[in-house]
Amino acid sequence: MIILLVGTGAREHALARALSLDPAVTQLHAAPGNPGIATLATVDGTPVTLHGVDALDPVAVASLAGAVKADLVVVGPEAPLVAGVADAVRGTGIPVFGPSGKAAMLEGSKAFAKEVMAAANVPTAEPRVCRTSAELEDALDTFGAPHVVKDDGLAAGKGVVVTSDRRSAVEHGEAIIDAGGVVVIEDFLDGPEVSLFCLCDGETVVPLQPAQDFKRALDADQGPNTGGMGAYSPLPWAPADLVEEVVREVAQPTVDEMARRGTPFIGVLYCGLALTSKGTRVVEFNARFGDPETQVVLARLATPLAGVLLAAAQGRLSEIAPLAWRDDAAVTVVVAAQNYPDAPRKGDPITGIDEAEQVETVHVLHAGTTLDHRGTLLSNGGRVLSVTALGDSLAEARERAYAGVDRIVLPGSHHRRDIAARAAAGEDLLEA
Ligand code: GLY
Repeated sequence: MIILLVGTGAREHALARALSLDPAVTQLHAAPGNPGIATLATVDGTPVTLHGVDALDPVAVASLAGAVKADLVVVGPEAPLVAGVADAVRGTGIPVFGPSGKAAMLEGSKAFAKEVMAAANVPTAEPRVCRTSAELEDALDTFGAPHVVKDDGLAAGKGVVVTSDRRSAVEHGEAIIDAGGVVVIEDFLDGPEVSLFCLCDGETVVPLQPAQDFKRALDADQGPNTGGMGAYSPLPWAPADLVEEVVREVAQPTVDEMARRGTPFIGVLYCGLALTSKGTRVVEFNARFGDPETQVVLARLATPLAGVLLAAAQGRLSEIAPLAWRDDAAVTVVVAAQNYPDAPRKGDPITGIDEAEQVETVHVLHAGTTLDHRGTLLSNGGRVLSVTALGDSLAEARERAYAGVDRIVLPGSHHRRDIAARAAAGEDLLEA
């Protein structure tokens, strides 16, 4: 199978790694990929090929898919999906794993997602859509602190502010309105958060295993929101029937509602959930795999990935065998650039990746990296690397991941030291 993967982050590196390990994959192409993806090869030794194509250009991606004779195109990030890349590829007759631009609005507009959830009776926080400062102030008064202020549109991980400081809430909301955007204010949801990825083919839903992400920049969930500073899976503290419940109450009704509207959802429905004292609630939907949760979920998936994604793209998920999972636990720790998430410094040299990968099971996934003209690896973004490890237990996976992190040298970088710590110590997060 020839696969074209669209995207450039650590999520795409994790996808590329899983696809490269699938014996059914004979060629793997990435557009544009990254220096880590460039080091991969398929099982028969064919190196991955990178293509300098703009992932946001639907015509260019569709044309590349045709040129490389792709059997399947996998779109990683949300922006190409919302830009209609999957539509353009699908228009050429090539199967594509990723929703249409219209279906990707489940992520592209928080207000749209809330409307779909209301129609499908999916439990979520009550929203208020605000287009003016007066509406914003009124909504903040109505819901009270802690304030949840979301940019309706895509904001590359910077759209959500959760704060008890009303002034910060107003500033964030007004900045969105001043830029011509729309703000969604929501009720605060208490309880631990869980990410569950559901593979969808427009009708059938196949859940993966749940993971937990760490969104705040600093230990003990302090500091600003980020795109995610680390993740782990499985979640020993989560209810045994969580996945079943989320498929029944959230994913399947949403997929059914999207089909009813004539915009079937094909790809990953990322269910961001809060396990609140009043029950499971949707915090957000995304229309793609999460980053960094994908790094741990795919590390645990034993079923070869390519056939599953192709089945989803071709509407055949009901025919596949149940997914198989390794018993191992997985932990990933994000190494972030100096000043991330505000104004990450770029251009710092990165060393120690080979040394990190000498730690048992550790693999280092690239996100914000680039090579200079001499082939030196430099930082080139906020989240630079995801250091991922497996273990018999979360404690062992965590120990290995941090042993890997400690061998990486990136001047000014920072990372959290408490990824998976509470779960590894056996804490019941539902009791906390
Ligand atoms: N980890 C959060 C996200 O992928 O949106």
